[in-house]
Amino acid sequence: MKQYNNGEFRKKDINKTYTVYGWVNKRRDMGGVIFVDLRDRSGFLQVVFNRSFLQNDFALAESLKNEYCIKVTGELIARTPEMINPKIPTGEVELMVQELEILSEAEAVPFNIYEDKEINETIGLKYRYLDLRREKLQNTIKTRHLITTSVREFLNNEGFLEIETPILCKSTPEGARDYIVPSRVNKGTFYALPQSPQIFKQLLMVSGFEKYYQVARCFRDEDLRADRQPEFTQIDMEMSFASQEDVIDLVEKMIKHVVKKVKNIDLPEFPRMPYKEAMDRFGSDKPDTRFGMELLDLTEILRGTKMNVFGNVIENGGIIKCLIVKNNGDKYSRSDVEHLTDFVKIYGAKGLAWLKYDNDTFNGVIAKNLEDEKLALMQETYNIENNDLILIVADKKKIVYDALGALRLKIANELNLIPQDKFNFLWVVDFPMFEYSETEGRYKATHHPFTMPSDINKVNDPENCLSVAYDIVLNGYELGGGSVRIHNPKTQKIVFDALGLTEEDIKRKFGFFIDAFKYGAPPHAGLAIGLERFTMLLSGTDNIKDVIAFPKTQSASDLMSEAPTQVSDEQLKELGIAVVVEEQE
Ligand code: AMO
Repeated sequence: MKQYNNGEFRKKDINKTYTVYGWVNKRRDMGGVIFVDLRDRSGFLQVVFNRSFLQNDFALAESLKNEYCIKVTGELIARTPEMINPKIPTGEVELMVQELEILSEAEAVPFNIYEDKEINETIGLKYRYLDLRREKLQNTIKTRHLITTSVREFLNNEGFLEIETPILCKSTPEGARDYIVPSRVNKGTFYALPQSPQIFKQLLMVSGFEKYYQVARCFRDEDLRADRQPEFTQIDMEMSFASQEDVIDLVEKMIKHVVKKVKNIDLPEFPRMPYKEAMDRFGSDKPDTRFGMELLDLTEILRGTKMNVFGNVIENGGIIKCLIVKNNGDKYSRSDVEHLTDFVKIYGAKGLAWLKYDNDTFNGVIAKNLEDEKLALMQETYNIENNDLILIVADKKKIVYDALGALRLKIANELNLIPQDKFNFLWVVDFPMFEYSETEGRYKATHHPFTMPSDINKVNDPENCLSVAYDIVLNGYELGGGSVRIHNPKTQKIVFDALGLTEEDIKRKFGFFIDAFKYGAPPHAGLAIGLERFTMLLSGTDNIKDVIAFPKTQSASDLMSEAPTQVSDEQLKELGIAVVVEEQE
């Protein structure tokens, strides 16, 4: 077994003989002397092949190429002063090799392992096992490990039990699309892979386990983004006899414990913000609070204007909000603003009105049409100064929030307004219980249908009913979310009714689950954190693939193994499945 970590040799270790293992990271042939950076998981050690010390034929050392896997034995010596490399931790020492054994040869690799250079993503994913040799991914995977071990350490200490729940489950058609798995034994029936262990963890509370957690694999067939993968991991937990306050307190302590372990940072208390405030100020339920440039209201200021674009929106119950890009108006030309207009259209906005303030006057098309007193009121209310750019969206509330929320982030990125060294954790609380689905024409549960309403009497007023649900947000990412659950069948029935679910629907979808609550279910609450997002943010990357050993592409495929693939006719026959491929247009 390998005994030493190459990256840990120091001057105190010299004048002894060691056997070390690793990969040839890079070799330099100085004619008669060959230097190799020998890499293992811990770092590098320079090993030196010198004709006068090497007992093997020197040709063996000359045959070494990058990524050969080798074993060498030799004496660790201090480097001469002019050879010291202060940039690497082992830079003061080197190993004079006496014996070399090549354990595995390597063909030419498709990219250099030793270079910290962006590589073509397709090639990186195809040769993922090689990309994983590179320092960046070695580090993120180690960080992920440190997060899970710190979480386990913390929760075990708090009396939680780690319990696994099934991967082959019943499909419960709420939330995202399921991945389904055909049953061979019961032909024509299917399991679903869990979107989360939600139902099982609540049943574990009914079973009396009181404090549960799991580092749980979850599967969701949804559109992928930079922070979403079809299979991902949750740090999932549930507690009996616990309130929202208890969960928030415990999770906050857990996060502080992890961040201390991983980054050696002591975090201050996490602030809280009601959902409504988050939407009003940031246009997002996961606000990035590392910078300002908040959404400002213009509805009241512009009420009564003769300008139809604004007047009509207000009359129809819409709102008007703006962003003020302080002291950067000169950075945005007319055509730049046109690009921003195209950008907000992605979010359903019909347009982006703009004003510039220069030489103590407003410029821009709408400056000519908007009443002077309205402009003056705007200037005074928001202390608009020279070189400010004002970007305005007038529309339905949701469109205004979505468009300006996204625009705020885009501009902040363009202007480098976001401090990169901050960890702004934030609890977002008081979520609405229901949200209206335009596509389905009905109200749906914002979290899931087992979430406790904050006032049972408001369940039939879906626009104003809040829930006891909370999200933990970090730097503009939703890191995790949870809620107090309904444990009383009567309350559950009222919520199901409000969601328009019939007795038959309920029985078919969640029958076994609802039954369990007839037998003395304890009050309980929980939360789940996305392990990948947590790892991404603590590693300083914005690409979720960087924190997953073997990730999938945008189209949910694995370029290395080429999954998903077709299966043999025999396999299909055994499952009683016929494949019907619709012709692509
Ligand atoms: P939710 O659906 O909010 O809650 O998920 C919790 C957290 O999981 C992470 N996450 C994802 N990460 C990567 N790829 C995805 N496709 C993906 N989807 C979700 C996010 C998210 O905040 N059962 C509830 C939790 C509870 O109520 O206890 C749940 O799953 O970081």
